[in-house]
Amino acid sequence: MKKLIAGNWKMNGSKDESRALIAAIVNELSQDEAILDNAEILVCPPVLYLGDVRHALHGYPSVVFGAQDVSLYDNGAYTGDISAKMLKDAGCSYVILGHSERRQYHGESDADIKVKAEKVLAQDMVPVICVGETESERDAGEQEAVVAKQLKGAIPELKPHENLVIAYEPVWAIGTGKTASPQDAEAMHSFIRSELKSLVSAPNSVRILYGGSMKPENAKDLLGQENIDGGLIGGASLKADAFLSIAKSA
Ligand code: PGA
Repeated sequence: MKKLIAGNWKMNGSKDESRALIAAIVNELSQDEAILDNAEILVCPPVLYLGDVRHALHGYPSVVFGAQDVSLYDNGAYTGDISAKMLKDAGCSYVILGHSERRQYHGESDADIKVKAEKVLAQDMVPVICVGETESERDAGEQEAVVAKQLKGAIPELKPHENLVIAYEPVWAIGTGKTASPQDAEAMHSFIRSELKSLVSAPNSVRILYGGSMKPENAKDLLGQENIDGGLIGGASLKADAFLSIAKSA
C-alpha cells in the first residue's frame, strides 16, 4: 500500500499563492517522479481554490485533491454550506472530516462527523476522519479511551470501508512544533488498527495517517513505523519543497 501524503492547506494563502503552490508541486514532482512510486499525493486547498488546483492538475492525475470539510446536508437552505455532491462536481476525491479545529471552533461532534462521512462515501469520495487527544487528556493517560470513543462515534455504517482513511492528530502536536515520538505515534496507530477490527470490514486496508507538526526532519522516522500509512501535513504542506521532501521519505 502506498503511503498517503496529504497536505491540509487550511485557510491559508490567496488565489495567486494557491496557484503558485500547486504549480511548484507539479513542477518538482515532474522532475522526480520516483516519489510517486511509494507515495500518493493529496492536496486539500481552501474550497474556493479547488477550481484553480483542478485546472493546474489537468493532465496530471498523479496528484489528487480534496476538501477540508463538507455540509451535513444534501442541498437546500443551508447558507454557506457546500454539499458532498458539489465537492464531487469540483473533482474532489477526498474530504477531511472532524479536524480538531472544526471540533474546537465549530463544535463538531462525532455524530456530525459520522453523518458527513456517510455523505462523502455516498459520492464515492474518501473520508479522512481525524481523531486525537488533547494535551490534558494525554497527561491523564486517557488518550486511548478518547480516540476509541471518537472512532466508535464517527466511523460510518455505510459500506464500503476499504477506502476509509483515519488521521491520528494529537491536538497538542498540531501547529505547535511538538511531535509525538515515532514510538508513541506507532503505539496509538496500532491501537487504532485493533479498534478498527470491530468497526470496519477490512481494518488492514484502512490507511492511518499521522498528523501534527510532521516535517522533513521527522517524517522518515514517523513514516517508517509499521502502522503509519502516511501523513496529514499542515504547516509544512505550504512549501512545495518541504511537502515533497516528506513525500520522499515515504
Ligand atoms: P501541522 O498541522 O502539520 O501544521 O501541525 C497538521 C494538521 O492540522 O492537519
